[in-house]
Amino acid sequence: MPQPIALVTGASSGIGYAISIELAKRGFKVYAGARRMAQLQKLKDYKIIPIELDITSLESVQGARDIIASDNDHLDVLFNNAGVIGDGPAMEVSDKDVQYCMEVNFNSQVRVTREFSPLVMKSKGVIAFTGSTAGRVILPFGSVYSASKAALCAYANTLAFEVEPFGVKVVNFITGGVKTSMTVESSKPSLPSGSAYIVNGVDLLRSSRDNLDPSSLMEAETYATKVVDDIEYALKGKSFLPGNYFVSFRGGASTTVKILTDYFPRALCAFLFLNLFKLKEPFKEIQRKAN
Ligand SMILES: NC(=O)c1ccc[n+]([C@@H]2O[C@H](COP(=O)([O-])OP(=O)(O)OC[C@H]3O[C@@H](n4cnc5c(N)ncnc54)[C@H](OP(=O)(O)O)[C@@H]3O)[C@@H](O)[C@H]2O)c1
Repeated sequence: MPQPIALVTGASSGIGYAISIELAKRGFKVYAGARRMAQLQKLKDYKIIPIELDITSLESVQGARDIIASDNDHLDVLFNNAGVIGDGPAMEVSDKDVQYCMEVNFNSQVRVTREFSPLVMKSKGVIAFTGSTAGRVILPFGSVYSASKAALCAYANTLAFEVEPFGVKVVNFITGGVKTSMTVESSKPSLPSGSAYIVNGVDLLRSSRDNLDPSSLMEAETYATKVVDDIEYALKGKSFLPGNYFVSFRGGASTTVKILTDYFPRALCAFLFLNLFKLKEPFKEIQRKAN
């Protein structure tokens, strides 16, 4: 068997970093792409090849593709993982924040897929996406992030239909909580002063994130093991159902989200999330003030 080749975007930290290592451990030749080259250098210990990549720039994406294509005539796995969080109440979020989140989490995923798909078609390989449970459920004060991941899901679904004649498989990872900088360190956003969601001095965006139980987050390495199992499975073209589109629920609480969204009414989800994010009393207070 020739050594399979993979490109992972957003590999400088968190999920992408862990997936790159897991793929390398299983014998893949891995290209790890991101903007922070210093972070990527650490992956050299695993014989992973760092590659400078800003997915929002066509020039950067084509540059990375040309480097990979100069050494390889195909790519077995394109793992579209890079992404950013987008926080802010649905009715207050700025144009700039909407554009940035959609640019990274959606437009750029399409750009990378388009530029690399000829290489993936040559190997009848796999195109994977790090989607999110946020694309299916309510994420309080994260509507734009949710929308970007829902858009990605819709794109992956039709992409799979269109690439099936070429033998290419598509995997959409509906990802639940994973312990990364996105969920642990940097996830301490706050609302601008004057927000309708600062109630009696409490910033509800901040407090709702603080109220999330950190034990519900999966370790990135555990998540990566499961994800790479799925990638290997998809590469072999195996599925219980016919077709080339695999939707895999991985990460903390992802199965719960699947059951909740597949079988229960939205009202139950709204009720549960009011309690989970401790928003019940503040929302009552907003209601009292509004009446
Ligand atoms: N953690 C979770 O609970 C969770 C849940 C569901 C989905 N996800 C998704 O998982 C993916 C990875 O996130 P993470 O949790 O591992 O967070 P993270 O540690 O912040 O990783 C984000 C990665 O995306 C890269 N990135 C951001 N903008 C980029 C750009 N313009 N060009 C290239 N790379 C870019 C970053 O690299 P540079 O800054 O070096 O470029 C970094 O490597 C994201 O798509 C996220 O939406 C995460």
